[in-house]
Amino acid sequence: MKVEDLRKIAVLGAGVMGHGIAQVAAVAGYTVAMRDISEEILERAVGNIRRSLERLVRRGRLSEGDVEATLSRIRTTLDLREAVGDAGLVIEAVPERLDLKKRVFKEVEEAAPERAVLASNTSSLSITEIAEAVEDPGRVVGMHFFNPPVIMRLVEVVPGERTSRETVEFALGFVKKLGKTPVLVKRDSPGFIVNRVLVPYLNEAAKMVDRGEAEVLEIDSAMQFKARFPMGPFLLSDLIGIDIVHHILKVFEEKLGPFYKPSESIERLYREGKLGRKTGEGFYNYREGRPQVPEEAGRGFDVNRLLALMVNEAAKVVSEGVAEIEDVDTAMKLGANLPEGPFEAARRIGVGRLTEVLRELEERYGEGYAPSPLLSSLK
Ligand code: 3HC
Repeated sequence: MKVEDLRKIAVLGAGVMGHGIAQVAAVAGYTVAMRDISEEILERAVGNIRRSLERLVRRGRLSEGDVEATLSRIRTTLDLREAVGDAGLVIEAVPERLDLKKRVFKEVEEAAPERAVLASNTSSLSITEIAEAVEDPGRVVGMHFFNPPVIMRLVEVVPGERTSRETVEFALGFVKKLGKTPVLVKRDSPGFIVNRVLVPYLNEAAKMVDRGEAEVLEIDSAMQFKARFPMGPFLLSDLIGIDIVHHILKVFEEKLGPFYKPSESIERLYREGKLGRKTGEGFYNYREGRPQVPEEAGRGFDVNRLLALMVNEAAKVVSEGVAEIEDVDTAMKLGANLPEGPFEAARRIGVGRLTEVLRELEERYGEGYAPSPLLSSLK
């Protein structure tokens, strides 16, 4: 399949990510079939797409006529086979369970045209393992979008061990057609690049609160106003969804070690079903509107404490052969809207200072904080 020949796309799953991906594809001119398992979910998804398109019109990014034209390119269905029957590209965005994804991919392979590329938007599962469900794993690739997909410019393209070159080229070309920037992940490793760096930082912030070292608002304020992140770690966890953050950490814990175990507070919110914005409560309560983060709340907080952890995770990503330094910086800037990449931050702050912070943490809380050997070679 050549990307120039692509007209029709099927998006499986109309949740937070699925409906955003469907919207992005329809805005780019593709015809999209969006499939989920209930009419109610599909109706909510179309309502969200409409509101988002209207927001883009208000900001002058789309014209009035684009709203109806874009919506007319999206059809909804409950029938998976019908959704993928004429698709050149299928993007799976169903819940993050390997057994479910495998079942979906098997059914997709049976019903989709032979030439169709099969992509997964998984945030932490292995593309290689998902691809085991199909007869031709060469056509399966990871295409990982960021929340909210309409705004975030990055898409990670992740080849599994048996993904064909042609499929990878197709995925890279398609992401460019969407007007986004692809970063090619060199190795199918848990969390790829951005989640691997970002989610342990979210967990670390939560651990700090659990240990009584700082307050939620204090950390969010400092990361927003002092580190110039678009939002602090707790607002971001609530945006991503506590269930998703929890799931990613569980995968990391299993595949990378106990250091990545979800913090007590993430575990508790997850068990209580307080999953963030989508349920109206997470670290914050959203029922009375958007939480206010005052600038003065974070004045006394040292942001290097959290930046050191992010830089260390980024160094691990590079030393494990998942991506090059420049790609990690690009991915973090475009996938999380950070003002600078972790390696750029390391150069600004000084590797010596960050190593000191990590050594102190290692002494106090254990070897998970040990500075990556790559850090000292950065200088
Ligand atoms: N549809 C249309 N427009 C939207 C939108 C949507 N759903 N959401 C935000 N916008 C637009 C607004 O209209 C506004 O446009 P402008 O810049 O032209 O004025 C702009 O985005 C900023 O919006 P707000 O002023 O409302 O600012 P917010 O604070 O609400 O949020 C944000 C904007 C883009 C979410 C920003 O805070 C941000 O970048 N946060 C970090 C997000 C992030 O890190 N995402 C990645 C998470 S990791 C992930 O998704 C991977 C997964 O696997 C877990």
